[in-house]
Amino acid sequence: VAATNSTAVITGAASGIGQALATALARRGVALAISDVDESGLDETARRCKDHGVDVRTDRIDVADRAGMLAYADDLVGESRRIRFVFNNAGVALSGDAVEHSFEDVDWLLAVNLGGVINGTQAFLPALIDSGDGHLVNISSIFGIIAMPAHSAYNASKFAVRGYTEAVGMELAIARRPVRVHCVHPGGIRTNIANNARTSPSQDHGTLTRLFNESLARTSPDQAAEVILRGVARGKRRILVGADAHALHAMEQLLGSRYQTLVATVAGRVLGGAA
Ligand SMILES: NC(=O)c1ccc[n+]([C@@H]2O[C@H](COP(=O)([O-])OP(=O)(O)OC[C@H]3O[C@@H](n4cnc5c(N)ncnc54)[C@H](O)[C@@H]3O)[C@@H](O)[C@H]2O)c1
Repeated sequence: VAATNSTAVITGAASGIGQALATALARRGVALAISDVDESGLDETARRCKDHGVDVRTDRIDVADRAGMLAYADDLVGESRRIRFVFNNAGVALSGDAVEHSFEDVDWLLAVNLGGVINGTQAFLPALIDSGDGHLVNISSIFGIIAMPAHSAYNASKFAVRGYTEAVGMELAIARRPVRVHCVHPGGIRTNIANNARTSPSQDHGTLTRLFNESLARTSPDQAAEVILRGVARGKRRILVGADAHALHAMEQLLGSRYQTLVATVAGRVLGGAA
């Protein structure tokens, strides 16, 4: 990832993967336009990035707010920036069986995880095309490749992000637009995603959070950011992050739809213990 006169736009940059992407890009000399709904976390990210001497603009942007996102993109373009990188990263989680989900929680999750990616893509695609050498990076999940019990709405959003992103990538290739499109599928990354997740009434938030933080999240956000930026530099359409993501991806490729029997058996044991 080269710096020359480039701005990277990163949503959800107050924490986790977004924060690590921002600092990794700042180290490479890339100017930043970072946003989040968490303004104090965003200030901390900006402080870390400014230590590397780059220009950092911060904005409070809710990715689910379409009008806000479009106005934000217009404003950045009006500053005559060369927007070469857009990371649609902001995301939230919801765990529990579908039978217990409230529609309010499902709508919230889809508006952020899927709506946010679509809003960010549509708002910034013209600027990425104008840059002459753009990269659109949408963050899905390994749960956008395999489904997982107790994550149906999250799976719906992340499978949809994958389908959307892959289709946009092919459209741009057919039209010979100068934008590479990357869909990112992280495995477990030690971030605040579980701490901030909503859970169904019958689940114990503390137990699930401990299970994720202490056992499942094996990769650090900084490691994840490096893998993502390497994949972007190499022009990879699908970027897997972490040994767990590679293993689950291989399982799905090998077993096809039969992976569900295996996942249901293992997850049934683990979740049975966590409920
Ligand atoms: N941590 C993992 O194991 C993991 C695995 C696969 C995919 N992901 C994906 O990575 C992305 C980043 O998540 P993370 O793990 O760094 O979590 P995180 O909770 O540490 O960071 C997510 C950030 O998004 C922000 N955010 C939430 N709702 C928002 C909204 N409506 N508008 C703008 N910002 C909003 C939060 O304030 C937070 O700063 C998400 O899309 C997540 O689904 C994470």
